Amino acid sequence: METYYNHINGEWCESKTGEQFENRNPADWNEIVGTFPKSDKRDVDAAVKAACGAFNEWRLMPAPKRGEIIKKAGDLLTERKEELARLMTREMGKVLTETRGDMQEGIDTAYYAASEGRRLFSHTAPSELPNKMNMSFRMPVGVAGIITPWNFPMAIPTWKIFPALVCGNTVVFKPASDTPATAAELVKILLEAGVPPRVINIVHGTGSAVGIPIVEHPDINIISFTGSSAVGKVIAEKAGRQLKRVSLELGGKNAQIVMDDADLDLALEGVIWGAFGTTGQRCTATSRLILHHAIYDTFLDMLAARTQKLVMGSGLDPDVHVGPLVNAGQRDIVEHYVEIGKKEGARLVCGGERETSARCANGFFYKPTVFAEVTPSMTIAREEIFGPVLSVLKAVSVEEAIAILNNTVYGLSSSIYTRNVNNAFKAVRDIEAGITYINGPTIGAECHMPFGGVKETGNGHREGGWSVYEFFSEIKTVYVDFSGKLQRAQIDNQG
Ligand code: UN1
Repeated sequence: METYYNHINGEWCESKTGEQFENRNPADWNEIVGTFPKSDKRDVDAAVKAACGAFNEWRLMPAPKRGEIIKKAGDLLTERKEELARLMTREMGKVLTETRGDMQEGIDTAYYAASEGRRLFSHTAPSELPNKMNMSFRMPVGVAGIITPWNFPMAIPTWKIFPALVCGNTVVFKPASDTPATAAELVKILLEAGVPPRVINIVHGTGSAVGIPIVEHPDINIISFTGSSAVGKVIAEKAGRQLKRVSLELGGKNAQIVMDDADLDLALEGVIWGAFGTTGQRCTATSRLILHHAIYDTFLDMLAARTQKLVMGSGLDPDVHVGPLVNAGQRDIVEHYVEIGKKEGARLVCGGERETSARCANGFFYKPTVFAEVTPSMTIAREEIFGPVLSVLKAVSVEEAIAILNNTVYGLSSSIYTRNVNNAFKAVRDIEAGITYINGPTIGAECHMPFGGVKETGNGHREGGWSVYEFFSEIKTVYVDFSGKLQRAQIDNQG
């Protein structure tokens, strides 16, 4: 067990409260991974002050140089990939193959960010007047407040922090209190890579004691948050009062469509990975499966057989496919929705209960669960569950399947399995989602492509790739007039 601290104003320090909280292993609640400072607004204030103080030095460092520092962070993440993947599995629960993937996503994001330090492209355009040039530059926004979830303890913080830093912003970072250890190690890596000490600040604690003060702090100019739609709405409202720039990546109710012309074995692999990978705890998780009626019975049988073969246990065990839920509260939510599913008349095909085998006795394990005969109006077809629960619906055509898929307040990821090119392109055109996969599951976005969703999944921003650099920078438009006289736009070039 390790004792962790906040990193504020270049110092590793206790919180002002002097209190700590424990971070435990969800696969074995007896194991304490570490203790962390229970911070409050006073710690946030100190962190923001440090980040403000460091802004000038950091923004004036050439962007390629900032990129080189992030490259070094990528090298250090690579060196420590296995060690930190193990730590991440211990604090979050998902299996080692997945935490290695989570690390790799951070590494990929670092190398992309490093190269972006030499780009940060903007536009030049001709002027409407002679002897005048028009151009634009990307400028940093200021102090960035970064608030991250527990399901991707490394990848999501890197998605936000690396571009924020490359663009020249300084950072106050509040990681989820379920996965603070991976986050703390990331900050250590950034410091070792050469980020100046006051540029990156981490404040541990709860959403209400630390997250809200970050959102409300007048000197934080930009907020990036991934989490639930309910919390996202609160953040948008509070930040909106101060006209802050906010990027929100929120809930999902992602669906996979399987048409009668699909490769069913491939579609089965896809839905198993999409629905039960990360124990269903991804914003991109497959939560609904929409089957063409002609293959409904066959596919459901295949799905039930395959689901029941999934092995649960500690994510450190190489034979395990599905780890625990992250905490007791998350398991309560899953149990709540399973009860609702039964009450509303869906047919429980498999799962629907806790995993009680001896090796799962001390953790928050819940069996991969499939409900059939789900209708679009049922709660389990509409609300995000964030657990290993899959609702199966039926459609008679690709049009109906897409209509069912779109019948949700969310719009993050989506998928269709079909060998018919017409069905595939109809899906690309008509599905309302930020991401559509053809013959691939709803999970597995690559770090250099825009990531985000429509409707209540977000507020129109995208992470990933080039698009996140647009979010973390302000455009400065510059006009240079070398005519030596007053030239009035819209007036002196007329007639
Ligand atoms: C999330 O669940 O918030 O596309 C992120 C994926 C991962 C990222 C998921 N690369 O499933």
